[in-house]
Amino acid sequence: MELHKESSISCSSAAEKYLIDSMNEIKLFSPATVANVSCGFDVMGFCLDNVGDEMVIRKVDQKGIRITHIEGFDLPYEAELNVAGISALAMYDALDIDFGFEIEIYKKIKPGSGIGSSAASAVGSVFGMNELLNRPFNKTQLTEFAMKGESFISKCEHADNIGPAIFGGFVLAKSVAPLHILELPSPKDLYATIIHPQIEIKTSESRGLLPNKVPLKNAITQWANLGSLIHALHTSNYQLIGSALNDVIVEPYRSKLIPHFNEVKNAVIKNGALGAGISGSGPSIFSLNKGLKQAETTKKVMHDIYGNSGINFDIHVSKINTKGVKIIND
Ligand code: HSE
Repeated sequence: MELHKESSISCSSAAEKYLIDSMNEIKLFSPATVANVSCGFDVMGFCLDNVGDEMVIRKVDQKGIRITHIEGFDLPYEAELNVAGISALAMYDALDIDFGFEIEIYKKIKPGSGIGSSAASAVGSVFGMNELLNRPFNKTQLTEFAMKGESFISKCEHADNIGPAIFGGFVLAKSVAPLHILELPSPKDLYATIIHPQIEIKTSESRGLLPNKVPLKNAITQWANLGSLIHALHTSNYQLIGSALNDVIVEPYRSKLIPHFNEVKNAVIKNGALGAGISGSGPSIFSLNKGLKQAETTKKVMHDIYGNSGINFDIHVSKINTKGVKIIND
């Protein structure tokens, strides 16, 4: 992989350039994301603005990548076994530098929640390193590094969580090899409400449920919906966003793993949400809403259904985050 054009410099001078930068440590917010968006399995996703992990990335004299602190969930410290470490190593291997990085992970997104937990970790490390190095890599290159981490978990390379976490807003991954990310507009009154039932569904397992072949008539319905959704985002056509949120290929298989899925979906739509579907590989269920007031109504509907279920859950209401991963101050 080549360095980003503006920073296209030789390896020895690259190391000197990196060291000129006085910033040695960075704290960042790496956002949760909703992948698939019903009809865009593996190619579409959007970014949330108030749910995500925090990470600290530090430049140190010792060469290599070390994970020095993990809080929130029990995850491996070995860089080669941790998505944040794997993506960091992918980027580190593309550099020729005589120093290293430490990573601290403050995990807020539960692994296996369906809102891009592994993507947030994978994105945070490469974003932070890139900032400390004076941004030698562009967003597409960062996405490629981060995909190496996420694919370790999902056993498949896709950019529908990583892309939105890095670029912000809605993105469409036109292809992954070569990686081609398209940034889509986010209508200004669009809000997501997401319920996260506290059960774990492993992405690799929920992918294993899916058929290798789909009937042509379902494929036609799916690409008509995906095209319509993209048109609706470009034209801020909220009604069309709702009618395009229809997944006839993946949802029928995966929804069986999610308690009360159909009940939640039908009830939120009946009460004014534009549409709803499985967030990523589940178990979270997302809905899109016009306006904050409607998003809060949807939250109440979800709460009423899950409140009696005996399953712990949390619910997030979020505007679409058009910025993606970002530096934060204490
Ligand atoms: N597109 C992926 C899936 C997202 O649904 O399996 C989860 O990683």
